[in-house]
Amino acid sequence: MDKTVLVTGGAGYIGSHTAVALLERGHRVVIADNLANSSAEAVVTVRRLTGREVAFHQIDLTDEDALDEVFAEHPIESVIHFAGLKAVGESVTAPLAYYRANLISTLNLLNRMQHRDVRKLVFSSSATVYGDPEQLPITESARTGATNPYGRTKLMIEEICRDLAASDPRWRISLLRYFNPVGAHPSGEMGEDPLGVPNNLVPYVMQVAVGRRDRMRVFGADWDTPDGSGVRDYIHVLDLAEGHLAALEHLESGCEVFNLGTGRGASVFEVIKTTENVSGRSIPFEVVGRRDGDIATSLADPSKANEALEWRADRNLEVMLRDAWNWQSRHPNGYADKVGDDVDVPTPTPPD
Ligand code: NAD
Ligand code: UFG
Repeated sequence: MDKTVLVTGGAGYIGSHTAVALLERGHRVVIADNLANSSAEAVVTVRRLTGREVAFHQIDLTDEDALDEVFAEHPIESVIHFAGLKAVGESVTAPLAYYRANLISTLNLLNRMQHRDVRKLVFSSSATVYGDPEQLPITESARTGATNPYGRTKLMIEEICRDLAASDPRWRISLLRYFNPVGAHPSGEMGEDPLGVPNNLVPYVMQVAVGRRDRMRVFGADWDTPDGSGVRDYIHVLDLAEGHLAALEHLESGCEVFNLGTGRGASVFEVIKTTENVSGRSIPFEVVGRRDGDIATSLADPSKANEALEWRADRNLEVMLRDAWNWQSRHPNGYADKVGDDVDVPTPTPPD
């Protein structure tokens, strides 16, 4: 493999791990990111971990001219589109910002791709498009129906992609519905670094373990689940990154949707217990009321991706949380702790 892949949002959590996986597979990588929710240090880390050069353009995808300059400068063959805003609660209070950031960016990207004759796309969708599922595990044919503006942007982008693929058979598009991405690069040098108070369980529990926060709040212990707490299908970010490589390598004419999950569920209490085991720290918690919009259980049926993409998410909860802890304990304040780091890493090779 030796292809140039544009990774939008490549400074972010999933994008940076996928950039490393692409580089390790021999692809060339160009990152476009406005750093609205990430740090340039993540791009430096991608270079350090792989010893490869990575072009980085700090641009906002709502600026179509800036985006076109990226296509003009590099021989881009395919695009993995991660860029977007993703906080569910914020999308409810600031819907226009979400529709603008997610929809305008995507329209600009697709327009530039069409103009530049680049028609291979892998898009970050989300299990949030399933809303409160009627059946478990969830297959790709399940009813969709998002319950917040963030989720609706994902559904709208999926429809836009389907219409585009129907208009011209040269388009090859994969829509990847991720379940709950967690974990970090096993080196401990790259991981999730949320701004402010984390919304999600694993970043929060890690900040409690490292002493940045006092205690966990468990949002309900009265759900219809084995131990009463919410159950999710957590997937290691490295398995997810490998899923993107598989999707890219298996792109076919048209637009296909795939669940990326493990098919195994874990409860909030299991996540707390396993974090205590891997970190050796105790995690104080209190059970509070249910969080608005939460569901009891989300669980993927990943068999379509297992078969069609020849991909499987194998890393278990303990590995996910061990790697997350490795990152968090080495960098209690995330990338802010890495600025100016003098890590022993391979020297980057210049681009070919
Ligand atoms: P992230 O916030 O870490 O990464 C997104 C990146 O996009 C950030 O670096 C941000 O600066 C950048 N960005 C945002 N708006 C931009 C714009 N207008 N122009 C250029 N760059 C912009 O999030 P992530 O967790 O890595 O998620 C990546 C994608 O996966 C997102 O589309 C998200 O909706 C989707 N997703 C994430 C999860 C999850 O739980 N992390 C679950 C399902 C789907
Ligand atoms: N939870 C707590 N305490 C916390 C945070 C979460 O008990 O402080 C519980 C939740 O109630 C839920 C579970 O932990 O039962 C997981 O919650 P997350 O917020 O980590 O994940 P969600 O499944 O609610 O949502 C995430 C993303 C969504 C995305 C969805 C599916 O935030 O954007 O996964 O991919 F749509």
